[in-house]
Amino acid sequence: MAKQAEETDPQAAAAAFPGLSIEAMLHDYDGREGRDILAKVREFKLAEQARALDVYPFFQPLDRNDGPEAQIYGRRVLMLGSNNYLGLTRHPRVIKAAQDAVAEHGTSLTGSRLLNGTTHLHEKLEERIAEFLGAEAALVFTTGYQTNLGVISSLVNRRSVAVVDKADHASIYDGCRLAEGEMLRFRHNDAQHLDTILGRIGADKAPLVVIDGVFSMGGDIADLPAIVEVCRRHQARLLVDDAHAIGVIGKGGRGTASHFGLEGTVDLTVGTFSKSLASVGGFVAGERAVLDWIKHFGRSLIFSASLPPASAAAALTALEVLMEEPERVTEVQRKGEMLRNGLGDMGFDTGDSQTPIIPVTIGDEIATVTFWRELLDCGVYTNPVMFPATAMGKAILRTSCMATHTDEQIEFALKQFQSLGRKHGLLP
Ligand SMILES: Cc1ncc(COP(=O)(O)O)c(C=O)c1O
Repeated sequence: MAKQAEETDPQAAAAAFPGLSIEAMLHDYDGREGRDILAKVREFKLAEQARALDVYPFFQPLDRNDGPEAQIYGRRVLMLGSNNYLGLTRHPRVIKAAQDAVAEHGTSLTGSRLLNGTTHLHEKLEERIAEFLGAEAALVFTTGYQTNLGVISSLVNRRSVAVVDKADHASIYDGCRLAEGEMLRFRHNDAQHLDTILGRIGADKAPLVVIDGVFSMGGDIADLPAIVEVCRRHQARLLVDDAHAIGVIGKGGRGTASHFGLEGTVDLTVGTFSKSLASVGGFVAGERAVLDWIKHFGRSLIFSASLPPASAAAALTALEVLMEEPERVTEVQRKGEMLRNGLGDMGFDTGDSQTPIIPVTIGDEIATVTFWRELLDCGVYTNPVMFPATAMGKAILRTSCMATHTDEQIEFALKQFQSLGRKHGLLP
């Protein structure tokens, strides 16, 4: 990608690179192998063509990431496309804790939690998470992705069914694929449809309902009161993935159950350290006996090296800062409201967002990468998200706020959105 901005006309892009068309995105690579497993690779041209057109938006290296601002292609930009909701990745105490942990424990434990990969730091982190969420216990994994893999696959056996929201995160789907039991899906955030699906499951099967608390792309909040009621009626257990809810909603950032005053109604809460908690890693919180089962049957926990001490220390300290400074949660919510209301008032479609995750629908895929690129050239970093992560023709720019953004930075972002929205005919 060139360092200097050049305007990209979506029509010209489509004409010059027909490979960037909808057909190319729908291209079916299955069944083209013959005897050569790599044959399909040669047919995959989309990324290469987008790079040639200078509109390839993925894997772009940052020069620096300073929290609310970053540097890319040698220039400073406003970071409106991270999950660093509380702005803690640059907090001096969090950095110091990671440095101290490296000095004390080294860079890696080179083994899984089960064998040589557990330290007192991991156990302290688990205790603090359990305390924060009011759970009996917590179990720390190396990533949030692996948490869903290990939790779901260890619980959903041949006599069980996983029932998932259609908009759930990929790691939930992958956990279901790894599980021996069946997976059923219900319409996004539709408790009535969940009721129908659970009603079809025979009494010989044990259901586990799995939902995101805050949906990672839409920024909407699960209808937990209705879902809890339906689960109770059908004797279904409930797992809530609060990856984007911890530090963002609920009392002092305690997540979705707390947001609705429904503490104690969720069987298992999954979370990650890679967002509000300024690190990497994941956890599941719940009943100690259930976690003991996962400890011994969760393959992604047992067969993968444990969370490095520096990451554990950073997450632990970030959690302590969150507990000491709950005003950060109010602040990220306020910034989100400011951005969401501003975009909505201009006439942008921000979907059902209720949180600092705010999707802006651009629609056409090529128009979206063009908008993304021009926005970046104007100094605002966002994330383009398109098919297959969204429906075809419903591509979005995912934006997200931080507690540490200033009001002026949000106003700056709004101004850039407005002028590009007008330029591209998305706004009056
Ligand atoms: C809802 C949800 N669950 C799980 C994950 C995985 O988290 P991690 O980045 O810690 O692997 C993500 C990450 O994007 C997520 O959005």
